[in-house]
Amino acid sequence: MRIDVISLFPEFIDQSTGFGVVGRARERALLQLQGWNPRDYASGNYRRVDDRPFGGGPGMVMLIEPLRACLEAARQADPTPAPVLYLSPQGRPLTQARVRELALLPRMILLCGRYEGVDERLLAHQVDEEISIGDYVLSGGELAAAVLIDAVTRLQEGVLNDAESAAQDSFEGEGGLLDCPHFTHPASHAWGEVPEVLRSGNHAAIARWRRQQSLGRTWLRRPELLDESALSPADRKLLEAFRQEWAADGSPAKP
Ligand code: ADE
Repeated sequence: MRIDVISLFPEFIDQSTGFGVVGRARERALLQLQGWNPRDYASGNYRRVDDRPFGGGPGMVMLIEPLRACLEAARQADPTPAPVLYLSPQGRPLTQARVRELALLPRMILLCGRYEGVDERLLAHQVDEEISIGDYVLSGGELAAAVLIDAVTRLQEGVLNDAESAAQDSFEGEGGLLDCPHFTHPASHAWGEVPEVLRSGNHAAIARWRRQQSLGRTWLRRPELLDESALSPADRKLLEAFRQEWAADGSPAKP
């Protein structure tokens, strides 16, 4: 996959994607990442990329022209067509389902805004989709772009090894549930024991326990993700047993 990133801080993108799974994918050319700085396409001695907003108010707005020229240069750098995605809190919230779709693209161009935003006319004419990574405000789109790059890269063929396999991740398993808890050595610690079933060697029982924990966690923490009517009869039984155990433990009422 090729990703071009338009940003006033291309080094930020370069450095934040240089580690771990994504760093390795770049080294192996499974991800081709190229930064583009709109300042390089700005005119005048000051290479201005922003100006005051019409109508007044605080902050600065990114100018159309440097962004347009920069986008054009990025497009021309490769014949592969690419949608332009703008990272902003006004965008559609990113989900794992959308990440899976985007991960199938051969190429995309990410546009990162700074200041109060980008001239709306550039967005209207050049942007295919606006994406938010959550209902909070960052100082710019770079961190959000790095999040999106990470999420799509780890789904590329050959990026994860078997041990890192994405299939077990939260949202990726059957039904889009949260992941189950994980434990490693020691089996016994001052902070608690590893559940007996995980040490039993009974693979069917372990799989059932993990599925039940995923169901239970999703019910407790993200009930809106759980479409109970779509659960299999076996899943419903597991969840019901989880709930009964939860209530019997004298646990506080579910928030
Ligand atoms: N830029 C600033 N805040 C953002 C957010 N929440 N998501 C995506 N891009 C952003």
